[in-house]
Amino acid sequence: MKTTEQQIATSVLVIGTGGGGLRAAIELAEQGVEVLALGKRPRSDAHTSLAAGGINAALATMDPEDSWQQHAADTLQESYLLANPDTVRIVTQGAAEGIADLERYGMPFAREADGRISQRFFGAHRYRRTAFAGDYTGLEIQRTLINRAVQLGVPILDTIYVTRILVRDNRVFGAYGFDLTTGRRYVIHADAVILAAGGHTRIWRRTSSRRDENTGDSFRLAVQAGGRIRDPELVQFHPSGLIEPENAAGTLVSEAARGEGGQLRNALGERFMARYDAERMELSTRDRVALAAYTEIMEGRGTPNGGVWLDVSHLPRETIMRRLPRVYQTLLELQMLDITKQPIEIAPTAHYSMGGVWVRPDDHSTDVEGLFAVGEAASGLHGANRLGGNSLIELLVFGRIVAEEAAKFSVGRQSQERSVEAVAEARAEIDDLLANDGEENVRALQRALRDTMTSRAGVVRDAPGLLAGISELGEIEERMTRMGVHPDIAGFQDLAHAFDLKSSALAARATLDAALERRETRGCHNRSDFPDLDESLQVNMVWSGPGEVVRESIPPIPDELRALMRDDLSTEGKLVE
Ligand code: FUM
Repeated sequence: MKTTEQQIATSVLVIGTGGGGLRAAIELAEQGVEVLALGKRPRSDAHTSLAAGGINAALATMDPEDSWQQHAADTLQESYLLANPDTVRIVTQGAAEGIADLERYGMPFAREADGRISQRFFGAHRYRRTAFAGDYTGLEIQRTLINRAVQLGVPILDTIYVTRILVRDNRVFGAYGFDLTTGRRYVIHADAVILAAGGHTRIWRRTSSRRDENTGDSFRLAVQAGGRIRDPELVQFHPSGLIEPENAAGTLVSEAARGEGGQLRNALGERFMARYDAERMELSTRDRVALAAYTEIMEGRGTPNGGVWLDVSHLPRETIMRRLPRVYQTLLELQMLDITKQPIEIAPTAHYSMGGVWVRPDDHSTDVEGLFAVGEAASGLHGANRLGGNSLIELLVFGRIVAEEAAKFSVGRQSQERSVEAVAEARAEIDDLLANDGEENVRALQRALRDTMTSRAGVVRDAPGLLAGISELGEIEERMTRMGVHPDIAGFQDLAHAFDLKSSALAARATLDAALERRETRGCHNRSDFPDLDESLQVNMVWSGPGEVVRESIPPIPDELRALMRDDLSTEGKLVE
């Protein structure tokens, strides 16, 4: 019998070639375990390359009082008690090793004159613990990891779009996909699969993710394989996204701008953070700064384009050029604006999925045997408010750990049972989409979905809006049955967009369902109809299908860390004010 697909076999398959996927692949290769990494965009352009301001570890190079315990306490405090204490301990305790790994691979961190790694303030950290490379930190990390992966001969295929994780009897045996240029189908057999395909923030209209990235792929792949999603409603809106130009709306202006002394002002020229968090001002928590900016805009004190001002023009030009080179370049390129002279018009932008695939806190294994998740695809570290800089360190720490666990799983596996039915289903899914010649356009449906999420599940939410969102999503899903999918001479991008849309629809439903269920205001999740924090909702929301949300309890915080936290879970500066 002739096969219709290209057959490949490896021990561990990594889906995603951003920082988490690459770090895992490096560990596997260093351990001598066969690995293959797949991406849907060029590796040098993975989303990690956009991460700007820095990576956290309590190295105490600038503030000797710092410790991993204080980093853990800050992370737990600012998660509004929704982070898993074990995950937090593992990341903060392992952070220095994560930085040392990067140094070993040649990462060019910014340094003080005596050679110490420099560390800057990021919002809501007790001490300076954010290491950086200008405001190109993610780009440098990505380059460093690619170089190391190349040294080790890690095979990376970055034109393969994965449509399914292949599972038999709740155990993975690989993945199915197609080549974005030729359309050639692939069956990749593997003992274990690491899902590192990012989050779902591209389902909002103004977002710091670019087109076709963070479309919710990890959510769909995990759920179809038998996994669940934890806290999809907890989405971080970063305070500073660009408003213009429309086709780049949401592009990030790094928090480093505020870390270096940037000031926020409304249209009246007031430094409005004084009203919301007079102590920490611009370096308050992201949820507070984003909500404050939103409130100023909604109450009529916004700029003409519906934003607020972020001003760094009082800083020495040399500081801007050395510490904020990307912000400087981005504003020149997109708006012909010189930030050394003029303020930047910004508004909140969907930035990070703090929830993600349900994983066990210690090894990031999922409900499906042999399937692991890492990075923005995973969940547990951030709760209801992520500290800037924590996601990059999570990639380093858990990238190593998932690789170790996947290697153990592969080595310990007696046999790899496969399923021709599962492969046939994956094949049929693509065949069916390609046979579609309906009148509905994929890009237009993506736009409709993003409009719904923006108007119904943005910075501030309420039950009528969320219910309307669910109903609008139902209409979009109905229209999706009449999509036309048209690969052309340039390649199979349209097929990829159709799968992106399926992922986004699933991620949107999970988000709306869980947001409806969380009837309180906590961190990034602002419910105008429930403006108070509800102690009984100090739980994670776990989604397993439309309308199926259950509450999951969170283990207690160890006394050693509790002692370093503030007593109160302050809601000062939130909706209640
Ligand atoms: O603003 C920033 O540079 C973003 C950093 C982060 O989200 O960790």
